[in-house]
Amino acid sequence: MRQTIRPARRLSGGIVLPGDKSISHRYAMIASLAEGTSRIQNYSTGADCHSTLGCVTELGIEVHEEGTTVTIHGRGLEGWNRPTVPLDAGNSGSTIRMMSGLLAGQPFDSTIFGDESLSRRPMDRVMKPLAQMGALIEARDGRFPPLTIHGGALNPIDYTLPVASAQVKTCVLFGGLFAEGQTVVREPVRSRDHSEIALREFGAELKVAKRVITLEGRPNLTGRELVVPSDLSSAAFFLVAGLLVRESKLVIHGVGLNPTRSALLDFLLSIGAPIQVLKIEAVNGEMIGDIQVKHAPVRGGLIEGELTAGLIDEIPVLAVLGAASEEGLIVRDAQELRIKETDRIATVAENFKRMGIRIEETPDGMIVPGKQKFQAAAFDSFGDHRIAMAFAVAALRADGESTIDNADAASVSFPEFWNILEQTAA
Ligand code: S3P
Repeated sequence: MRQTIRPARRLSGGIVLPGDKSISHRYAMIASLAEGTSRIQNYSTGADCHSTLGCVTELGIEVHEEGTTVTIHGRGLEGWNRPTVPLDAGNSGSTIRMMSGLLAGQPFDSTIFGDESLSRRPMDRVMKPLAQMGALIEARDGRFPPLTIHGGALNPIDYTLPVASAQVKTCVLFGGLFAEGQTVVREPVRSRDHSEIALREFGAELKVAKRVITLEGRPNLTGRELVVPSDLSSAAFFLVAGLLVRESKLVIHGVGLNPTRSALLDFLLSIGAPIQVLKIEAVNGEMIGDIQVKHAPVRGGLIEGELTAGLIDEIPVLAVLGAASEEGLIVRDAQELRIKETDRIATVAENFKRMGIRIEETPDGMIVPGKQKFQAAAFDSFGDHRIAMAFAVAALRADGESTIDNADAASVSFPEFWNILEQTAA
């Protein structure tokens, strides 16, 4: 699909965005192993979270969807059936990496695969700890999907993550659900903690001390009523659009503000963005609030170290903001960006080139000078949802009509993106 985007004079109104992708995956996976029924409201509408539901269904778990409410009838830790076909993770790194931990603990073999982009992403980061737990996993060229997982009894391990990754942390904790005794995960940097919160919500016993998480194996998980906050990583596109487009004033309702995700808000505030959080409440252990954003010039700045890990999904759209900022944006320590749905350093640089924006690519980041003029261009998402949406935001500020090829990639996390953009932009 090719999408045309005209420059906007303003973005205004109040918007509600789909449920958080990270939280939806976790709720669905854990609910499928809990005893009894879980009802999950505001489940992500994105294709990725539907890949997770597809896998769970293949494992014999009854799943019903009505609008954005998903009901899952779990049958306990031992309730999955041997799948009769390979499990399809689609484009979803979270599905394949987190499900691997759960599949490793099953008394059967299974295969899980993904699309072309996912088939190029490394899985050795989950294969290694799972092998230490006693699971045998085969992969193409030793590290790429499809994965064939020979499940069985798992041992608890004490694992130090070599990279900051919530997916890998979750995979080990999920394996630990099936191991007798305590599984310990040590993180180099605190990554998003939705798994820890969700596991506790479902009844698991889990201790968190700084960056060390200890899980008691073989918990009794019980079905729950849950509400998923809206996705802050989806809100990021509208926050940046509101900052970039003159006369904008937008309110985004019910957004997840978990402190391990909200580095985005802290960073935007630190560079002078007039963002206000209007209302905060706690739902199922997660923080939710309304965010207001108004147009204003921002300073720009430096993203490195722990901040990079906290902002990893938002860097493409922050690069767009950086090009319009007073002082530009420097990103370091972001080599992980090169192994996301696309090499996001390269795909950002290519689209910047098409719109006449200067950028210097570095092995682990980018240098984007500020105060640049945005020219209309023919962009490409290269099949990456966050690249499609980041350059739709850039197009709002351009000097004419732009197009985005493969714009349908946005549906991986945010199928309503184009409609909501059309409703809010004038
Ligand atoms: C995610 C963790 C991050 C993030 C991804 C979702 C999660 O990946 O980029 O979009 O839900 O745990 P890594 O674990 O590879 O850092």
